[in-house]
Amino acid sequence: MSAKATVEAPANIAFVKYWGASDLERAVPWEASLSMTLRTCVSRTTVEHRPEGGGDEVLVCGAGGTLEPPERAFAGGVLAHLERLRRWAGVAGSFRVATENTFPTGSGIASSASGFAALTLAVVACLERRPPAAELSDLARLSGSGSAARSVLGGYVQWPADAEEGGTGETAAWPWTAVQVAAADHWDLRDVVAVVETGRKEVSSREGHRRAPSSPHYARRRELLAARLAEVRRAIEGREFARLWPVVEEEAIELHLIAMSSRPPIFYWQPGTLAVLERTRRLRGEGLEVCFTMDAGANVHLICAPAAEEAVAAAVAELGCGVIRDGVGDGPRRLDEHLF
Ligand code: DP6
Repeated sequence: MSAKATVEAPANIAFVKYWGASDLERAVPWEASLSMTLRTCVSRTTVEHRPEGGGDEVLVCGAGGTLEPPERAFAGGVLAHLERLRRWAGVAGSFRVATENTFPTGSGIASSASGFAALTLAVVACLERRPPAAELSDLARLSGSGSAARSVLGGYVQWPADAEEGGTGETAAWPWTAVQVAAADHWDLRDVVAVVETGRKEVSSREGHRRAPSSPHYARRRELLAARLAEVRRAIEGREFARLWPVVEEEAIELHLIAMSSRPPIFYWQPGTLAVLERTRRLRGEGLEVCFTMDAGANVHLICAPAAEEAVAAAVAELGCGVIRDGVGDGPRRLDEHLF
């Protein structure tokens, strides 16, 4: 008898960035990061386990609801993670997987984070396993997408957790676990994404992590991170936008400073990126609670208070960018409707 499960997992946007890993294959970060889990930008993944075997199969949903074979690199990453999860579960047989995203893939909106979180959770669900969230987040990052560890939880999420919160260091069974620092309903923040480009970025995050320590600024970044993380946690705890935005923008700029000063350098920004940053500063000057952040891509996430969302979205559209309206969400959920 085959068993099937479908899970929807959201992307997340980091306020304190994961950039640089001591083990790239297994996504072991040098430092902790912290993100907001989104609710509109999601991956949906159906996994069917076939005990009789027959080889794993990976499909993506194309336009018009057809299931198609994915690009080779994408399929390779999924197949490797399926093998890892099969070993973790101690089962034989094969998996059939279909997946879809509600947002442009590979463009600075974290599709691997939501994709690998959804895949991990759907495999676990179809095998009827119920491990604790800490174990799930650690399983997700073994895909090589570290930010996937944060997408298995909702609200505001730190990865890895501090030692006293369950991030228990390399000797523990699940050493790099994520922790929710606040639930989504603690603070309603919105994320208006200014889509500057929809193409796949030229340099992957993985390559960016690999090059990060070659930047002369990277060692200094590592010294500053603990204080920044603490400041963001204080801002979230007290719902203080005035405390949050300077750190969030500093983090975004520094991620790109490190990328641009890596050897060889990486430029993710496009001219449109700079226009959005400039506009954000002006909006804030006009009294709106809004700030910018970016991941490894040209698109800009405008984090804002609900009262600022309309004006922010209008300003982004006026600049000629695509607009995705998102906000903090409750995290992954199981769906009754399957993709096949
Ligand atoms: C810039 O290695 O998790 O988004 O696998 O492409 O999702 P993907 O990237 P990952 O690195 C994420 C880097 C970042 C910052 C962050 O999300 O913390």
